[in-house]
Amino acid sequence: MSATGWRYLSEEGGDGPALLMLHGTGGDERDMAGLGRSLSPGSPLVAPRGPVSEGGMARFFSRTAADPFTFPDFDERIDALAGFVREAVPAHGLGGRPLYAVGYSNGANAAVGLMLRHPGLLAGGVLLRPMLPAPAPAGLHLAGTRVLVAAGEADTMIPPPRVRDLLDVLRAAGADVEERWERTGHGLTREDLAAAAGWLAGVPA
Ligand code: MLT
Repeated sequence: MSATGWRYLSEEGGDGPALLMLHGTGGDERDMAGLGRSLSPGSPLVAPRGPVSEGGMARFFSRTAADPFTFPDFDERIDALAGFVREAVPAHGLGGRPLYAVGYSNGANAAVGLMLRHPGLLAGGVLLRPMLPAPAPAGLHLAGTRVLVAAGEADTMIPPPRVRDLLDVLRAAGADVEERWERTGHGLTREDLAAAAGWLAGVPA
């Protein structure tokens, strides 16, 4: 489907929490729609494809070859994603419902970007292997935003200190944060997915 210039998938659902599904580098909207269905079968969802191509792999914002943690177009790309969300949510009958991101890796960092630059757009989200991708703006206020952070102790793509930076920023902004650390790397485990499903089952829809 194409609207607002983005490729995305949407699926209707029941009374479960409305989901914004954000894939990792090289993933796509189909993977994430499938993940959303399995994590929360009663949820309506919207799954956009990241508009940046890194050697054919879709991402939500660019990174430099010299430093994989330098994101030169972060602000513009996150603002464009917020614009997509603001159009897609009412277009799919989800206006007025709390919207939760479920993001993996680059998609989790894009969800963090929405929280940093557009606080209140998301009611919260499941952040699978996230980090702090950009400095927090002064006076960031995220009271009422609920977040599950699922990190890997041995993640070499997202080193633990960068996850801790994110946890500090979210908590300092007043977000309601649950953190989980798996004894694993960047890949997701069955335990991560079970925790994500359980968390989604408990948030207000
Ligand atoms: C990012 O670029 O968002 C992070 O390095 C995660 C990744 O995509 O590998």
